[in-house]
Amino acid sequence: MRFSTLLLHAIPATAAVTPKAYASSSDGVYKLSQYYAPVKGSGTPGSNSTWKLTIDDTASGHKQTIKGFGAAVTDATVAVFNALPAAKRSTLLNELMTSAGANFAMMRHTIASSDLSADPSYSYDDAGGKPDPSFTSFNLGDRGNAMATMLAQMKALQPGLTVVGSPWSPPAWMKLNRVLQGTTVNNNLDHTYVSQFAQYFVKYIQAYQAKGVNIDAITIQNEPLNSNAGFPTMYIYADESGNLIQQNIGPALRNAGLNTAVWAWDHNTDVPSYPQTVLNTASQYTSAVAWHCYAPNNNWGVLTDFHNSNPGTEQYMTECWTSEDAPTPWYQAADFTMGPLQNWASGVMAWTLGTDENDGPHLAGNGPCAQCTGLVVTNAAAGTYRYRVDYYMMAQFSRFIPKGAVVLSGTGSYSYSSSSGLESVATLNPDGTRTVVIENKFANPVYVTVDTKSGETWSGLVYTNSVVTWVLPAAGAV
Ligand SMILES: *[C@@H]1O[C@H](CO)[C@@H](O)[C@H](O)[C@H]1NC(C)=O
Repeated sequence: MRFSTLLLHAIPATAAVTPKAYASSSDGVYKLSQYYAPVKGSGTPGSNSTWKLTIDDTASGHKQTIKGFGAAVTDATVAVFNALPAAKRSTLLNELMTSAGANFAMMRHTIASSDLSADPSYSYDDAGGKPDPSFTSFNLGDRGNAMATMLAQMKALQPGLTVVGSPWSPPAWMKLNRVLQGTTVNNNLDHTYVSQFAQYFVKYIQAYQAKGVNIDAITIQNEPLNSNAGFPTMYIYADESGNLIQQNIGPALRNAGLNTAVWAWDHNTDVPSYPQTVLNTASQYTSAVAWHCYAPNNNWGVLTDFHNSNPGTEQYMTECWTSEDAPTPWYQAADFTMGPLQNWASGVMAWTLGTDENDGPHLAGNGPCAQCTGLVVTNAAAGTYRYRVDYYMMAQFSRFIPKGAVVLSGTGSYSYSSSSGLESVATLNPDGTRTVVIENKFANPVYVTVDTKSGETWSGLVYTNSVVTWVLPAAGAV
């Protein structure tokens, strides 16, 4: 007994023993740059402001396991990346998908059109608008093939990549209104075609598999309560969603030998009753709940409430935007990563990975997001790309928190209504090292002290309006 306890606490030989810190700041001085490493003990704050945090790095503090971080791979993303010179594109993908850069390990991709697609909108079985119940016209098309090819390239660089697919609309012929977009009237599934709706997911997953991309999870509809005439959408009721998963989609996936998971909801935090209904109806086939950030009263605490009612269900933050033209604040991505991680999310994905300098391409009209800016912005004419502040803020998490890391409970985070404050999340990584991510929204540096339940104290400076990531040695290593 004593011996196995010792073994459990043995420090892996590979674990680093030198504490390190990396910073990205709103002023652009730091971009995943090395920063003052934390020191053991209470350090010398000088006249800096001080702040205290605690983390429970013992077994009692273990919370959810991390699956990964990333962004949405839309048709816009694929088109603008493919417009770069091949060597530039390859450097970019390497930075996105390895520890040379963000080390992204989870991507959400659009199953055919989203609003961030060039005109015209499409599905993988348009069939000229005529019903095609036996899928004779099913095909990925140029854009679907390019999407699958890029995801396969990403997977080659990050073999553990988790890929999640979400449709904005099924083929028009499966809907009561028979159109992808243009009206909110009868913008619902035609239940004549429930088995085809389920089979559409099977055919899509198999087509991507054939191109080397395993689809780890799907949501059955992006934002099922967002019926919008301006771009492809479809309205699905909560009980309808549960029944579709339980009676049609779940069985269709399993009958086809596919282990693709189904994640419920894929919409905002203000209607948690929806995913609860789905889970109550289809728990056999629903492994996780996906959340977006757009509720006027967005509250990541909803995820903790949901966890408390459904402790076995994983949660993910699958969509939150960043924008240059309706500018989101420098801490947008840090907030939408930090908040979900503090509240049981196992992964976080931004909307969206890549756009051009005009936030596109996107569908025409007033409905599509015309101000959604990628983490990466490309300039096709110049053959160049640049990373925006949101890329660096996400990478402060994704680069240092690997898949398999366990989030630790902690105290001391606080945000004021004025959007200043200091927030933190810590993880225990598979190699025994610990990561502490600290988001400082004060316009001054803060000297932070972290007490660990394992009995250590670490201290160090956190730059003005920045995210600083500490990588601490395994408990007891130094
Ligand atoms: C704040 O802390 C840093 C790091 O310890 C130190 O170099 C700096 O002198 C301190 N600043 C003040 C004003 O005391």
